[in-house]
Amino acid sequence: MNTPRRVEHQQTDRGTIPVYATGVVEQPWDDYSSVDHHVWGELFARQREVLAGRACQEFLDSQNVLQMTADAIPKFSELNPILREATGWELVGVEGLLPEYTFFEHLANRRFPVTWWIRKPEQIDYISEPDLFHDLFGHVPLLMNPVFADYMEAYGRGALKAHGISEEALLNLTRLYWYTVEFGLIRTDAGLRIYGAGIVSSKGESIYCLESDAPNRIGFDLERIMRAQYRIDTYQQTYFVIDSFEQLFDATRPDFTRIYARLANQPSIRARDVLDSDDVIHRGTREGFATDEDA
Ligand code: PHE
Ligand code: CO
Repeated sequence: MNTPRRVEHQQTDRGTIPVYATGVVEQPWDDYSSVDHHVWGELFARQREVLAGRACQEFLDSQNVLQMTADAIPKFSELNPILREATGWELVGVEGLLPEYTFFEHLANRRFPVTWWIRKPEQIDYISEPDLFHDLFGHVPLLMNPVFADYMEAYGRGALKAHGISEEALLNLTRLYWYTVEFGLIRTDAGLRIYGAGIVSSKGESIYCLESDAPNRIGFDLERIMRAQYRIDTYQQTYFVIDSFEQLFDATRPDFTRIYARLANQPSIRARDVLDSDDVIHRGTREGFATDEDA
């Protein structure tokens, strides 16, 4: 019971990736072991400490409103009424990473899929696929923010549309998700802060993204981001900085159909590269960057 149901393992050029059953599942809360709760508690306490003064206030405050604590893995059934009341979003349990189309359908209907299982103690510092800690601790708090909540739904709708246009259009949108929802930074009066879920669920990257001189930090630019390659196997080489969630949502309001057509004729940009036209907040030293090509 306590192992996710993998329907098959897909062989790709980058190795074997798990593909999970795509249905929605009840969170098997009673089946979590004391080790599971302990892993949650340890990660929760550690990240709350790291994120004070690093994550944006909206993120930290929403975790409090949702009453997430280190004591035990939260119950989706207790988070849902709070979330529904705030922005109309709802969490659904899933076995793991979903096929793109299924994932976008959930977003378009204001359902956020959360992996029900949590990593093992030996994976506390690193896990290569999203688990409950990443999905719940990382993604769910900002769904309490009305503007971000609307952005996520619009993204889901936009991705379903892009899916029907071309593979390239969808890749453009995947990059946008990566550099905002997963790895976004935001400018505040107190300085740069984190809002990306991929960062807040990682201790190392939470510190690195703000304090290391190695990566670039560049002002948000929609079409620039949609051309930017990214790496899934290392900390990011470039972070994009928004001024507000309104800026992010406003930039994505136009119909992208013509943007996709325009981008189809432009080369992609390597993850580490800085363009003359970039609004550079910090030009990275690239110290310690891998020398191989981006994924
Ligand atoms: N406005 C975009 C379109 O027409 C959809 C979108 C919204 C994409 C929000 C990303 C984020 O395709
Ligand atoms: Co994620």
